[in-house]
Amino acid sequence: MVNNAELLKRDKKLKNILGRIWILKESPLYSYRTENHYYPVIGEGAHDAKIMFIGEAPGEKEAQTGRPFCGAAGKLLDQLLESINLKRADVYISNIVKDRPPKNRDPSPEEIKLYSPFLDEQINIIQPKIIATLGRFSMQYILDKFNLPESGQTITRLHGRSIKAKTEYGEVIIFPLYHPAAALYTGSLKKTLMEDMQKLLTIL
Ligand code: URA
Repeated sequence: MVNNAELLKRDKKLKNILGRIWILKESPLYSYRTENHYYPVIGEGAHDAKIMFIGEAPGEKEAQTGRPFCGAAGKLLDQLLESINLKRADVYISNIVKDRPPKNRDPSPEEIKLYSPFLDEQINIIQPKIIATLGRFSMQYILDKFNLPESGQTITRLHGRSIKAKTEYGEVIIFPLYHPAAALYTGSLKKTLMEDMQKLLTIL
């Protein structure tokens, strides 16, 4: 159990991350954010969540509101959470890249390099026992971060599998999932995602 004093400390550290991203002028996405009056999106949810979901980067709705996964993909993520009796407030939801890439293009290697240290900090603050990656970018980043032998394997092969890793604060299970946005385009992936959520439930 995490006590209130610790939760306050975590809150302060997360706000500090947001503050640094607000002024991240070296980001190639900074001027796009300010010109469009967008917000950076660092994440939301329980600061002592057992499970942390990591997506790619904010889309338009997210950048307009400052909240992760609040568009169409987010609705599906809510359904997936509900299917295992979880609410957003029970988990922590974040992204690798904290600003919206133009036209929702894939995040570039340079953007991932620039923003991922913030995600690393968030992981160490929240200290989740399970990291569920959403899509191939966050899966690849997390597999590389923890030097896992599965790095380089496809999401088709790794989705729905539990992969153990060691962090500064103890053991964590990496659980790759397809990105909910992919399931909006390819109907069959929704069924796979639902099945993978049931597997996730067994390790919660
Ligand atoms: N897709 C993501 O990867 N992250 C979001 O926050 C929204 C859509």
